[in-house]
Amino acid sequence: MIRLDHISKSYDSKNNVVDDLSLEIEQGECLTLLGSSGSGKSTVLKMINRLIEPSQGTVFVNGSDIRQSDPVQLRRSIGYVFQGIGLFPHMTIRANVGIVPRLLNLPVQETQDKIEELLELLGLPLAEYTDRFPDELSGGQQQRVAVARALAGDPPCLLMDEPFGALDAITRDNIQQEFLALKQRLGKTVVFVTHDVLEALTLGDRIAVLNKGRLEQVGGGKELLNRPATPFVRDLLQKSQKNLDVFKVTPVTDSKTPSPLERED
Ligand SMILES: Nc1ncnc2c1ncn2[C@@H]1O[C@H](COP(=O)(O)OP(=O)(O)O)[C@@H](O)[C@H]1O
Ligand SMILES: [Mg+2]
Repeated sequence: MIRLDHISKSYDSKNNVVDDLSLEIEQGECLTLLGSSGSGKSTVLKMINRLIEPSQGTVFVNGSDIRQSDPVQLRRSIGYVFQGIGLFPHMTIRANVGIVPRLLNLPVQETQDKIEELLELLGLPLAEYTDRFPDELSGGQQQRVAVARALAGDPPCLLMDEPFGALDAITRDNIQQEFLALKQRLGKTVVFVTHDVLEALTLGDRIAVLNKGRLEQVGGGKELLNRPATPFVRDLLQKSQKNLDVFKVTPVTDSKTPSPLERED
């Protein structure tokens, strides 16, 4: 579905902030891209939809080199949830969610139906929310609207840049659970960026660990925990294991959505 083939990016033509990264994201998979701040995660996402061009290497979407595709068409086929929400403050919730359907010139009724379906799906009752402005919503609600907006053009693929990063712990837990259910239901291909190890393990079918622009390891949660490929991955996972132990948290499991920690690789 998405293939990164030896991509590098330098902003100053000296240092590579993304360095020779090769990665494949399968159709219907949720891949979490895990790394600390400055490790190049946002740069990778932006290269997938041509907001930024790689200095070297090639990105393929559905088998085609994206340099050969029209960037506008490409962006419409890829929903993007930006770091820091990015709703348009002067537009109502209805208008924010409807941006892409309007760009796609979908019929008015179809657009209305789509907006309503998505807001319901994300737990925002229509009567209460559609005509409010973003600053009249809580952080968690705004984040749901941002996800609804990214889904509104029904793109096969979704890029999410630390979408839940600004939320308090409880809201974040809730919205992560909703995301898991939604993911199951919609079957989109998702690249989900986070700096939070637990979030990466909870939401990712596979996790790609990025360190200073280089890929340390990619694999299922169990594989990363049991067979870390590098000392960096081992230390990162050990720290999170300690957190799990200290707080006596068990990674989320239910019969329908097994946690990646429970999965066989
Ligand atoms: N537009 C830009 N111009 C110059 N440097 C940038 C730009 N965007 C990001 N960087 C630098 O590239 C590195 C990776 O940034 P980024 O991809 O945003 O990392 P992350 O999302 O993992 O925090 C950082 O050192 C950042 O300062
Ligand atoms: Mg970032």
